[in-house]
Amino acid sequence: MAEGRESFSGRFAVIMALAGSAIGLGNIWRFPFMLGEGGGAAFIIVYIIVCALICLPIMMCEAIIGRSTHLGTFGAIEKLAPGTHWKWLGLLTVVTPLLMLSYYSVIGGWSVGFLGEGLGMAFTKGTPDDASALYNGFIAKPLWPLLCHTVFIVLVALIVLGGVNKGIEKFSNISMPVLFLLIVIIAVYSVTLPGAGAGVRYLLHPDFSKLTGADVMAAMGQAFFSLSLGDGATLTYFSYVRKNENIMATGAWTAGSDLLFAIIAGFAVMPAVFAAGLAPEAGPGLIFQAIPYVFAKMGLNIGWLSDVMGVVFFLVAALTSAISMMEVGVAFLQEQKGFSRKKAVGVLLAGTWALGCVCSLSFGPFHGIMSGGRFFDLCDALVSNYMMPFGGLLFAILVGWKLPPKLVRDEFTNGGTIAFNTTIYGVLRFIIKWVVPVAIIAIFVSNLLL
Ligand code: ALA
Repeated sequence: MAEGRESFSGRFAVIMALAGSAIGLGNIWRFPFMLGEGGGAAFIIVYIIVCALICLPIMMCEAIIGRSTHLGTFGAIEKLAPGTHWKWLGLLTVVTPLLMLSYYSVIGGWSVGFLGEGLGMAFTKGTPDDASALYNGFIAKPLWPLLCHTVFIVLVALIVLGGVNKGIEKFSNISMPVLFLLIVIIAVYSVTLPGAGAGVRYLLHPDFSKLTGADVMAAMGQAFFSLSLGDGATLTYFSYVRKNENIMATGAWTAGSDLLFAIIAGFAVMPAVFAAGLAPEAGPGLIFQAIPYVFAKMGLNIGWLSDVMGVVFFLVAALTSAISMMEVGVAFLQEQKGFSRKKAVGVLLAGTWALGCVCSLSFGPFHGIMSGGRFFDLCDALVSNYMMPFGGLLFAILVGWKLPPKLVRDEFTNGGTIAFNTTIYGVLRFIIKWVVPVAIIAIFVSNLLL
């Protein structure tokens, strides 16, 4: 490892940081409304297949590239395939998380804004319809969401400024266990609400007849988004992992906890949505209407705290993921341009803040000025449905077809010292070489044709 380069301090820290990067608004905000739009249980089944067959192998590709070089995404690819066109993959995977951070920060900002509403006990006092009105009124305002986006992105910058150990690791170690506990509590409460049964049925009964090519594409996009794959974030975090770690075990823990969290989040949100009489396909605002309502109605008798808890929950989840996106840019600027961490964070803060402002305004004053749809939605679709899966596809091709098999095998098995990894290596290699590229291309094509 380069002299002075930080690394995560141990197995727990690595898993918490990677799970923090993976578990975020993708699980609690995007997954419930995507499955609402994609027909419920059928969407979940496709999602699980995509995670196991495509995403976990791609996570291993990123782990192999990141850990073998101990460099951020651009530097790692340059080191493994110097002076070739692969540098474009390096660039793609630096640009993708920064574009993502710009619009992700807008949603993170909504949590900051809803914190204010929670302090005023808006959810305890109001009905679900009031929560919807609050949400719709809030996002359409020009200035307040901008200010909230600013607060959020500054918080991200402050954590990243702390560095890998004192910033990212410390924050993830504390917040991830708390998030898990909270989502379980919300789900248990949500499924016991009067009228929640319809939501549980919605989650458990698949209807494949309604599943389209676009839904499969959306499930793949969601899996990449949720696991932070194909955008260099996972690769960069793995570059801070020490040589004695088992990357397969770490990856399986990360993917498993992300999947579990997403499904529990489905059970936290959907039953509450039905109980509150909201529409499951209501789109991005769904959780902002459902979760604060669930918390407020829990009858905890802790005053404004119950209104605020639901919102703090989004905020923390969003922060642990957003910091991994900014860290990709920081690693790039430090390693390739010689920037100090402070300077790198400053530059990235300015750039992502400015682009995020455009995304935020596309819900209000800029709404309808683009014929192709809202700028925010275009960024989200571009990043998760195209840029991330495309990045993942190229990572698989790089590892499966270009890198020396010995390097790949040694990295995956820690030089042949991990018996389980050594046994499954042949299967993994086949999946990376053939199954992943064919599956991703087939999903792209089916989206165009079906
Ligand atoms: N992986 C992050 C999330 O799920 C982006 O929110």
